Amino acid sequence: MNVASPIIWGIVTRAAGSVIGIAGGEDKCAFVKSLGADYVIDYKNNDVAAKIKELAPCGLDIYFDNVGGDILGAALDNLAMNSRVVLCGSISEYMRDKPFGPTNYTNLRATNSSMNGFFVYNHAEDFADAEAELANWISQGKLKIREDITEGFENMPKGLAKLYAGANKGVALCRVREDSQMINRDN
Ligand SMILES: NC(=O)c1ccc[n+]([C@@H]2O[C@H](COP(=O)([O-])OP(=O)(O)OC[C@H]3O[C@@H](n4cnc5c(N)ncnc54)[C@H](OP(=O)(O)O)[C@@H]3O)[C@@H](O)[C@H]2O)c1
Repeated sequence: MNVASPIIWGIVTRAAGSVIGIAGGEDKCAFVKSLGADYVIDYKNNDVAAKIKELAPCGLDIYFDNVGGDILGAALDNLAMNSRVVLCGSISEYMRDKPFGPTNYTNLRATNSSMNGFFVYNHAEDFADAEAELANWISQGKLKIREDITEGFENMPKGLAKLYAGANKGVALCRVREDSQMINRDN
């Protein structure tokens, strides 16, 4: 099974077979490799579609999409039969005046594949279980995290600009108060 995901400082999940991460620049690619990806494609310096074809000649079984645009197009060009595409985010499209839709979505038909949305807030009832399990994985070292924290509410715009410039080294977060880790959802 071949799984590709623009990791963007996210999580590499080893489902089965090989995992291909996609990140921008040498440094971020090395980091994604250190998370456990078998291969990493530097989208800033490669033809992503050609690279996927080279690394997964039989196609991708799962593509977890965080970016949309051209990279989604590259994945749709390289689907295995009965593959699954998960639409989580489309960060490459947020700053466009008009969203950029893939023109090759019909490859889903030819490969019997499916494309589904994933929106975390539609799974609120699972948050507590998920948090417990993720915390467990972190403490066991199975899940590695890296955070890029902007300090202070007043600096949030700078943190956001850094994110869109691709300058964050880790998941971009903003700490608005000292005790912000202690959130009690019941209150
Ligand atoms: N569905 C949901 O429920 C849900 C919830 C939260 C977030 N999201 C989405 O999930 C995605 C990842 O979120 P996150 O918080 O994990 O982001 P993140 O890791 O903090 O950082 C976003 C990254 O996007 C990358 N990027 C920016 N422009 C790009 C482009 N044109 N092509 C490829 N990569 C680009 C940058 O990486 P490089 O420096 O490598 O370019 C940047 O580091 C986002 O699209 C977000 O909107 C979805």
